[in-house]
Parts: sequence; structure tokens; C-alpha cells
Amino acid sequence: MNKPSAPQSPYGILGEAGIKELAAAFYDVMNERTEAATIRAMHEKNTDVIKQKLYEYLSGWMGGPPLFSDKYGSVCLTSAHKPYSIGPDERDQWLACMDIALERIDASESLQAMLKTPMYNIAEAVRNQDI
Ligand code: HEM
Repeated sequence: MNKPSAPQSPYGILGEAGIKELAAAFYDVMNERTEAATIRAMHEKNTDVIKQKLYEYLSGWMGGPPLFSDKYGSVCLTSAHKPYSIGPDERDQWLACMDIALERIDASESLQAMLKTPMYNIAEAVRNQDI
């Protein structure tokens, strides 16, 4: 009888290339969506650097190599976002971009379901305004 396979991490499912694609798709979606205009305006015009940073961050967060902390040291995401005013609307704009980006890279429904709560929790942790 086959042994049940070990549960896979999002990194195991997407791989480095998939996570890179996801981070790029995420900011492309943010660029395109008028609903995300408020959070888009907080970012630099050119998204090359932030695409790379999000990819490096997600690599470690998704169970792969901690590329972001290897490069920048351990970074507190909450303090990194302190300069920006992030309330429930901004959080939800961010999460909507992530949902669309996951669909755009053809992430499976099970992966999308696996990420739903942890993505919400990390976005909620970055929120620094009540309204
Ligand atoms: C909840 C809504 C969020 C908003 C509005 C937001 C906005 C921003 C902004 C404006 C920057 C600076 C970008 C720049 O310099 O161009 C940034 C940096 C960053 N964000 Fe977010 N962010 C959010 C949530 C998240 C989440 C949930 C993650 C991780 C899963 C994340 C990961 C990062 C990373 C890794 C950086 C780079 C930090 C650094 O340079 O040290 N962000 N974010």
C-alpha cells in the first residue's frame, strides 16, 4: 500500500518560480485595479523592487528558503508598514489583489483555500488603523 504523502507546504506546491510569478502578478493586479488605487498610491511608481521583495518574503513565509531575512535580516512586517495608513479597507484591497493574483497564476482551489486564513492573518497583522 502506498504511504500517504506528506502534506505539502505552499512553497512545495508553487516552487520558487511559482512564488515569483505570484508576487509579480500581485503587483500587476494592483496596478490594474481601480479599487486598489489607494494602496497602489502608497507604493513607488516602479514595482520591480517590491515585486522582488514580496517574492523573497513569501518564499520563507510559504515554507521555502528565507530569502528576505537572509538579505535584509529579520524584518518586522508590522514596523515596515508603520509609515502607511492601513485600515480594514486597505487590508481588504491587498487581499483582493492576492486572490486575483492566485487565480491568475492558476493556483489550485486547494492551495487558495490553504492560504485564505494565513493571508488574512498576516494582512490583519499589518493593519494599523481601525477605520
Ligand atoms: C495589508 C495591506 C498592505 C499594504 C497597504 C501594504 C503596503 C506596502 C507598502 C506601501 C510598502 C512599501 C513599498 C515601497 O517601498 O514601494 C510595503 C512594503 C512591503 N510589504 Fe506590504 N502592504 C500590505 C500588506 C503586506 C503583507 C500582508 C505582506 C506580506 C505577506 C507585505 C509584504 C511587504 C514587504 C515584504 C515589503 C517590503 C518591506 C521592506 O522594504 O522592508 N505587505 N507594503
